[in-house]
Amino acid sequence: MAFATRHFMRAASSAAATAAAKKLIVKHVTVIGGGLMGAGIAQVAAASGHTVVLVDQSEEILKKSTKGIEESLKRVTKKKFADKPEAGAEFIEKTMKNLTTSTDAVAVVHSTDLVIEAIVENLEIKNELFKRLDKFAPEHTIFASNTSSLQITQLANSTTRQDRFGGLHFFNPVPMMKLVEVIKTPMTSQKTFESLLDFSKAVGKSPVSCKDTPGFIVNRLLVPYMMEAVRLFERGDASKEDIDVAMKLGAGYPMGPFELLDYVGLDTSKYIIDGWHSLEPNNPLFAPSPLLNKLVEEKKLGKKTGEGFYKYK
Ligand code: NAI
Repeated sequence: MAFATRHFMRAASSAAATAAAKKLIVKHVTVIGGGLMGAGIAQVAAASGHTVVLVDQSEEILKKSTKGIEESLKRVTKKKFADKPEAGAEFIEKTMKNLTTSTDAVAVVHSTDLVIEAIVENLEIKNELFKRLDKFAPEHTIFASNTSSLQITQLANSTTRQDRFGGLHFFNPVPMMKLVEVIKTPMTSQKTFESLLDFSKAVGKSPVSCKDTPGFIVNRLLVPYMMEAVRLFERGDASKEDIDVAMKLGAGYPMGPFELLDYVGLDTSKYIIDGWHSLEPNNPLFAPSPLLNKLVEEKKLGKKTGEGFYKYK
């Protein structure tokens, strides 16, 4: 019996070792897009010991991204190393050493294990990028998109590596938010999926998995909720202020739906809902809102423009 147990344990651990050996351990990451999300992703990857190349369209943008990362790291270390400022300075130095930048994605992608795309939310532009990189990235390299609203399958189809393609959906602000949604399309291999889960854990996040369905988990629940709040207000059933207070005090949410819409950006929410509406025109959860459309038309996009549902300044 003891022999059988030992034999079983040995067999199980060697099976686990073989499975682990098959997974790709990501060491080198290329992040394309140094905006809000890409800079955050590059930061957490570099801070967790990966070598990272951050790519964007100009040196000027990259300078801004790098400065933003350094400032964010200072904020993180102030908390993390409150009593040990020297260890904090060392952590920043080490992280920044892991990070380089480039304006030429094709030139840097040849030695990378994982490409994370975080560029503008536009299917054609993303597809053009993936198609180009597919020709230059090594065979083993996994491609991932941080898209919020596009189908991962449609992006994967622009490459010849559909089995090595998945979604890695981070949340804003990346250094603070613990969640990553790891998206598996019908073509994503188990090995790729597990490698993406492992990478998410390695950068200190808690991954959840979801199929390639509009909005994945969080946005699929959150966007219709925010749109329903707008409709409630549009019908004159309650004021936006009362709806915000109600959801904060009654549901315990940290922000009301209108505060959240202003924080996310009304253009972003409109873009998402319009995309889903065109996929499923009869789904009432995805119905567009005349008020949201009007505010976007007037360039009242939320906090970033100084006015959305509320005024800021
Ligand atoms: P952003 O506008 O802040 O940054 C995009 C960056 O990509 C810009 O710096 C731009 O210069 C660069 N870029 C555009 N085309 C490029 C190309 N061909 N090659 C290299 N760089 C290029 O956008 P943000 O907010 O960082 O969003 C990026 C992606 O992340 C989008 O797909 C968005 O849907 C997704 N996302 C956004 C979240 C948010 O809260 N903003 C949350 C989760 C996902």
